[in-house]
Amino acid sequence: MNTHQSPRALDLLFPTPLHIEEREGSYRLHHTTTIAASPPFETLADTAAQLLGCKRGGEDILFKHEPNLEDEEYRLTISKVQIVVAAATVRGAFHGLSAVRKLALLNDNILPACKVSDKPAFVWRGFMLDCVRHFFSVDFIIKLIDVASLFGMNRFHWHLTDDQGWRIPIDGWPRLKEVASKRTELQYLDGRTYGRMYTKEEIARVQQHAHSRQMLVIPEVETPGHVSALLAAYPEFGCSGGPYEVQDRWGIFDEVLCAGNDAVLDFFDDVIAQVAALFSDPYIHIGGDECPQAEWERCPKCQERMKKEGLSAERQLQSWLTSKISAMVHARGKRPIGWDEVLDGTEEMGLPQDLIVQSWQGVRGGIEASRRGHQVIMSPNTQGCYFDYRHLDSAEEMGNLGVSTLHQVASFTPIPADLDEDAKRMVLGAQGNLWTERVLSSRQAEYLLFPRLFLLAQQLWNPQGPEKNLAKLDLLERYCAHLDLSCYRGRSK
Ligand code: ACM
Ligand code: ZN
Repeated sequence: MNTHQSPRALDLLFPTPLHIEEREGSYRLHHTTTIAASPPFETLADTAAQLLGCKRGGEDILFKHEPNLEDEEYRLTISKVQIVVAAATVRGAFHGLSAVRKLALLNDNILPACKVSDKPAFVWRGFMLDCVRHFFSVDFIIKLIDVASLFGMNRFHWHLTDDQGWRIPIDGWPRLKEVASKRTELQYLDGRTYGRMYTKEEIARVQQHAHSRQMLVIPEVETPGHVSALLAAYPEFGCSGGPYEVQDRWGIFDEVLCAGNDAVLDFFDDVIAQVAALFSDPYIHIGGDECPQAEWERCPKCQERMKKEGLSAERQLQSWLTSKISAMVHARGKRPIGWDEVLDGTEEMGLPQDLIVQSWQGVRGGIEASRRGHQVIMSPNTQGCYFDYRHLDSAEEMGNLGVSTLHQVASFTPIPADLDEDAKRMVLGAQGNLWTERVLSSRQAEYLLFPRLFLLAQQLWNPQGPEKNLAKLDLLERYCAHLDLSCYRGRSK
């Protein structure tokens, strides 16, 4: 029986688990609570002790290996005397720990007794942060990783190069740091600059934290468009030879990589090798979006390349470059991901078979790619996955370009209705993307991210649909208060 003093676990947990039974009583978490773990959960138990404010030792909280469960599945049993998390993998056990953390956070360390059996619907549950248009500190990135992983997210896509900056340290190319990592603030006349590179130590810190939260980090290196910062540093990689500027404006720029210059390929071979060494997870995002072809039409070197490779249209240069850069990624033992424009101009060359396509211009690219046998990440800007868009269509709201309502996110599913079964299996999951042209500070970023990120997390974990999700907005605001997150508090549809 419930009393007012003890809320139900079901009313506290978000994402709502797959199965939950409420039990009598509660467990009071205390600094004397002890934690034990059977292999392979010893390291996770250390993390748990730190996060819950408990100590290693006895079996008040027990992480138990249950090899028959699925990869990310967990069972959580909370009784008056013990908490048991059972899982087959550290990933699964981490999700069990997250449930314990959330109950403790919201209910003053008094955990309602319950039995939970839970696992996610989709394997790819991600968010992207653009750290180029505006720079975000590693402390903030770590805060976001912590929060997102608490809600079952498991992919951090780190957008690191673009027209307005280059933020990955690459040895042997000093002008990336000297020139490409900062831009002149054109609105000021005193020559002040904005931005910097992340250091290798900072990149290592982000990954270490992400991995401790069972989250993979996917660095993005943009090709062949959105490269003004790179061209400002190394103008020979552009068709005209420059001069170029690190952009202080937002948009799509005609200046792109020269597809006819072998030095461009040599540069990216080196970059991909170094990025593959800096980032230990299996994926590298190679961009591919919004690449105008006007310069390729005018450039003798690009025209020569087309002739030599038997390409009949400039748009095929994009797919030619995609195949070259993808091969570099493969050569370093990683898998490439590209925005859905990588499908353009592929009539003749096709796409490298294991290229993962990220569908952002609606779901069209995702549908086509999945039908062509490619794995797909959905982040349609038409269905709530663009968190840089306004929360609602009002000039009073911050945001850029479009609208992503809470209702849209709360209704979102990565699988378009008319996909056949084979194509459905190719959809790995989805991402929410935060571009930061108009996001100057981490507090603004939070306002755009929350509660949309939570709603997306639910839809990727255990889809509930808009009615049930939106009924939880008060709960999500409580989470934000406890986690020191700014959030949007509107209720209109
Ligand atoms: C994108 O939003 N240009 C991928
Ligand atoms: Zn060219």
